[in-house]
Amino acid sequence: MKTIIEPFKIKTVEPIRFTTRRERERVLTDAGYNLFNIHAEEVLIDLLTDSGTAALSAQQWAGIMEGDEAYAGSRSFYRFEQTVREITGFRHIIPTHQGRAAEKILFTITGGEGRIVPNNTHFDTTRANVEMSGAEAVDLPISEGTLPSAPGDFKGNMDLEALESLLRQKERRHIPLCMLTVTNNANGGQPVSMENIRRTSELCHAYGIPLFLDACRFAENAYFIKLREPGYSRRRTREIAREMFSYVDGCTMSAKKDGLVNIGGFLAVNEDDLAQKARSILVVTEGFPTYGGLAGHDLEAIAQGLEEVLDEHYLRYRIRSVNYVGEKLNQIGVPIFQPPGGHAIYLDAKAFLPHIPPHEYPGHALACELYLHGGIRSCEIGSVMFGKTDPETGAFQPAKLELVRLAIPRRVYTQSHMDYVVECVGEVFEKRDTLKGMRIVSEPPVLRHFTARFEPL
Ligand code: F0G
Repeated sequence: MKTIIEPFKIKTVEPIRFTTRRERERVLTDAGYNLFNIHAEEVLIDLLTDSGTAALSAQQWAGIMEGDEAYAGSRSFYRFEQTVREITGFRHIIPTHQGRAAEKILFTITGGEGRIVPNNTHFDTTRANVEMSGAEAVDLPISEGTLPSAPGDFKGNMDLEALESLLRQKERRHIPLCMLTVTNNANGGQPVSMENIRRTSELCHAYGIPLFLDACRFAENAYFIKLREPGYSRRRTREIAREMFSYVDGCTMSAKKDGLVNIGGFLAVNEDDLAQKARSILVVTEGFPTYGGLAGHDLEAIAQGLEEVLDEHYLRYRIRSVNYVGEKLNQIGVPIFQPPGGHAIYLDAKAFLPHIPPHEYPGHALACELYLHGGIRSCEIGSVMFGKTDPETGAFQPAKLELVRLAIPRRVYTQSHMDYVVECVGEVFEKRDTLKGMRIVSEPPVLRHFTARFEPL
C-alpha cells in the first residue's frame, strides 16, 4: 500500500475551539499582537512548538500509573536509566527537568570567560546557557544550510573547514567542547549526516576536544540518515541512532521532543569526573540524582516514549506527515525553507512578503495573519527574535533569515488538520499583497519576542 497512515488509533480526544475572525481580531489586539500572549484556548491549531506537546500513548499512561515515587533509588529511575543507556551507550545518565537544565549544568562546569563553544547552530537556550557562563557561542553551519531555497539532503551539517580553522587558531583549553544539534532546529530543522557526525568527531578528537550532541530530535535525524545517506537504508533506526551516539562523548536531551513526553530531559556523559561534577550541581538545582527534577512517573513516560519514538512505523509517519505539508505548499508556490525539516515547516517570509522590509517584521506580520485568517498559531524566527535596534543610534540590524515556523506536535494532529493548515497558508498567500508590516510599541531588554507588544502599520 502506498498510503502512509497514522500508526495509531485515537482513544482520548480533546476538543479545539472555533472562533470567528472578529473574535480573533479582538484577542490579538488585546495581546498586543504577540502570539505568545494569547490563551491557548483561543487557538484552533497550535503550531507554536513541537516541544512538550506530544500525545502520550496508552502504554505511557499505564507507565505513569506504575511510577515509583521513591525519593532515592526509584524503580522508575532504573528503567529510565537502562533505556537511555541502551539507546545511547553512555555510562552516566543524569535526569533533568528539561533540556535547558542539562545545558545549564554542562556549561556551568565547562563554560566560562574566554572560552568558545562551536556548534552547527546553537538553539537559543543553548546559546543563552553558553553565554551566561561567560563563554562565546559560535555557529558554524555549512553555507547552503542558511539558504532557504538551496537543495541538500543534510543542510544541518557542520562546516568542517570552518571548525578546523577555529580549532587550529585557538588553544585547546579555550574550547571545552564542541556540539552538534540534531536535527538543526535553528536552521530549518535540517538533519546532520552520519558522515558529518563522524568527521566532526574525528576532527574534535584529533585536537583533544570532546564532542556532544544536542540530541532533542535524534530519532528524526537517524531516520533521515536511513532515508537519505548511502549505506543506511537497510539498517534499523535504533542502530543508526546508536552509531550517532558512538562518535560523541555525551549529549544533552530535551525529552519534550523525541522523548514523546510533556516534560523531561537528561544529560548523558562517559567521563566519570564530569558526571560527578554534574551530579553535585544536580542535587543543588534539580534534585537527587535518581529523579533530577522529575517525578517517578515522568521517568516511566520518558522510558516508554524513547522506545516508541524509534518505532519505524512511527518515524515513517512522522517524517512523511511533515513532508506532506511541505509538498502541498510547494505545489501552490508558497516559499518554504527547502527541503521540509523533521519537526516543522519554515515559511520563508522574506520571499512570501517581499514588499515588507525586515524592519517592519515580515515574519511577524505573516504569523499574525495566519492566526487572524485561520486560528493557527506559529512562531516568527526572524528579526523580532534575532534583529537588533541600537538604542543610541536607532540603527536596525535585521536577522539573517525571516522565517515563520509551523512546528508539528507529535501524534496530535491528523492529515485533515494539516490540509486545513495548507489551505489557510494558501489563502493568505493569495492575498499576500494586502498584508502590512508591524511596529514594536514596547519591548523588554532581552528575549523580546516573548513579551514585546506590536501594532500593525
Ligand atoms: N535544544 C534544541 C535544539 C531545542 O530545540 C530546544 C527546545 C532545547 C535545546 C531546549 O530544550 O525546551 O526542554 O529546555 N526547543 C523548543 C522549540 C522550545 O520550540 O524549538 P527545553
